[in-house]
Amino acid sequence: MDPLIPPQMNAVLQIIILAILFASIGFKIKKKYWQHGALTLIATVLNLFSFLLVMLPSALGKEIIQTQPFHAVSIAILSHSIVGAVTVLLSLWLVATWHVRSETKDCFKRKNLMRVTIALWMLSLVLGFLVYAYLYTTLIP
Ligand code: HEM
Repeated sequence: MDPLIPPQMNAVLQIIILAILFASIGFKIKKKYWQHGALTLIATVLNLFSFLLVMLPSALGKEIIQTQPFHAVSIAILSHSIVGAVTVLLSLWLVATWHVRSETKDCFKRKNLMRVTIALWMLSLVLGFLVYAYLYTTLIP
């Protein structure tokens, strides 16, 4: 299956999502929790689009995963996909349980889950750019 938008555009989208996440963390540091939640919601929805329109179709079309599962590219794609899938699910859970309420007190209970999610999100990004370097550049021979 071909991705609906080109991978280069997806890479740019992922950098924009990263900037939104940094801005969201900035609001959290300033204790503006509603704005922090709203930007995280935007980043999560954009990431879901990126996953559904590009990464899932691309992963489903990678025959190398079935023919050579222990090839470095297959391992990079699989590890990226597993960490990425957990991150997508956790981020959806966090924004869904918030319900865009003005009351953010309840969210403090999920502070540790937020820390795990952001750490996994950064790991997914690093692995995603590793996959990109493998597939579309000559950086990795
Ligand atoms: C937080 C979640 C995720 C982040 C931050 C993320 C990030 C990235 C980035 C930055 C790229 C490189 C740009 C590109 O080549 O399009 C990429 C590529 C890719 N990702 Fe993800 N990703 C996530 C989730 C997933 C999931 C759940 C899958 C499972 C299907 C996945 C599969 C792929 C594949 C197959 C590619 C290569 C796409 C291509 O052919 O260009 N990603 N990802």
